Order: sequence, then C-alpha cells, then structure tokens
Amino acid sequence: MTTTKIAVIGAGNMGSGLAQALSAAGVEVVLGIRDAGKAAALADGSGSVPVLDVAGAVAAADMVVLALPYSASVQVLQGLPAAALQGKVLVDISNPVTADFQGLQLGTTTSAAEAIQAAAPGALVVKAFNTIFSQLLPTPPRQGKAPVQVFVASDHVDAKGRVQELVRVLGFEPVDAGALRNSRFLEPVGGMNIQFGFFLGWGPAAAPAWVRL
Ligand SMILES: NC(=O)c1ccc[n+]([C@@H]2O[C@H](COP(=O)([O-])OP(=O)(O)OC[C@H]3O[C@@H](n4cnc5c(N)ncnc54)[C@H](OP(=O)(O)O)[C@@H]3O)[C@@H](O)[C@H]2O)c1
Repeated sequence: MTTTKIAVIGAGNMGSGLAQALSAAGVEVVLGIRDAGKAAALADGSGSVPVLDVAGAVAAADMVVLALPYSASVQVLQGLPAAALQGKVLVDISNPVTADFQGLQLGTTTSAAEAIQAAAPGALVVKAFNTIFSQLLPTPPRQGKAPVQVFVASDHVDAKGRVQELVRVLGFEPVDAGALRNSRFLEPVGGMNIQFGFFLGWGPAAAPAWVRL
C-alpha cells in the first residue's frame, strides 16, 4: 500500500473494527481516543494496535480515519492544531443521522463530508465506508460472486485512489463515487441502509450495491 500509517480516531464499533481489520491486513495502524484510561482495554488483546490520544495519533499518521459521530468529528477537528492535518488524507465515514435515526442533521445543499472539509481546510477529505455496517469489516461477505461495494468520493484524485486501495485491501470493492459533494447523496443512502438494517429486519448484512445493467 502507498499509505504507511493510518490513525483511526474513535474506538467504537467502526473504529475498533477498522483498526483490527487494517492491522490484520498488515497495514500499520494506530488508534486515537479521548480517554487514555481506556487505552489498555482497547489494545485489542493482542496489543497489535497501539493506542494514543487523538492529537498523538493524528501526528503519527499520514492518513486519518474519523470514526466518530459526525458532530464529534467537527468538534475534534476544531480542537487540533491548525497544521495537524495539512496535506493528510482525512477519511469521513459518518452518517449524520439524527438521534432517532429517522432523519439527517444536514443535507441536500451540503453534507457531513463537506462540513468536515470546511473544518479541516488543509486536509484531503475522502468520503468512504458510510454505507456498510461495522459487522462486515472483519470478513466482508460476498453477494453471489461480487464483493461488497464501498463508495468513495473526494475532490482529491490521489487521496481518493489511496482510499480505494485501502478499501480493496480490506476485501471490499471500491466504487468511484465522484466529487466530495456527492456525499450529499451518499449520506442519505447510508441512512437508508440503517433503515434496512435496523428497522426493516435485514440486519447488519444489509449493504447497497450499484450495478450496470
Ligand atoms: N456502526 C456502524 O455500523 C456504522 C456504519 C457506517 C458508518 N458509521 C459511522 O461511523 C461513525 C462511528 O460510528 P460507531 O457506530 O463506531 O459509533 P460508536 O460505536 O458510538 O463509537 C463512537 C466513538 O466516538 C468516540 N467519541 C465520541 N465523541 C468524541 C469526542 N468528542 N472526542 C473523541 N472521541 C469521541 C467515542 O469515544 P468514547 O468511547 O470515549 O465515548 C467512541 O469511541 C459515525 O459517524 C457513524 O455514522 C457507523
């Protein structure tokens, strides 16, 4: 892989899942968390994923994955030194859903990804992973013979290519979803996937697929 070290910020469902899947795939990864007291418990049992505070993890990496609730993402970015993310790839996986999962906090004329780009203007923001559930991360299932798709959107071609490479390393099929503003469409798709998964009985194996007929 082109990327040498990835910081995953947040050690919840997606953060832990991504960090462990990346580590298992041989990618150098570090977790960044806000509560240093949780570090020992989080070191995934094998100790293969180091755990630092958020600023330390960002400083140690050349690609940063925000695995935080959308509102916390903006807050965390605003708390970092101005140059912390300059020139780094910043992956936004968020679905900015409301607390009851029945709507979006923002959308139509903007997106969480664009708000994150505005909060970290020097970063190369890439939208990815928002339409798959964390339960798929360890071993992505196959739909027939096709791998599960991960839609990747960014205004930065090289950064998008690096994230597509990462998606492939994790066993998913990267789909170029165009410019970052297409997150205005991807985020509602993530919300619909939550509806299928949690409210319409499909469970966490639900995932959208785009096909050429
Ligand atoms: N779960 C999924 O299947 C899924 C699928 C696609 C996309 N996503 C997106 O992925 C993101 C993470 O979701 P999740 O399900 O992994 O959430 P989660 O399990 O609730 O974990 C959230 C993590 O964010 C941390 N956090 C919250 N506020 C923070 C702050 N101000 N500063 C630092 N850390 C903070 C939490 O730390 P503490 O432990 O200290 O509270 C926790 O580690 C969300 O944007 C979600 O929309 C989730």
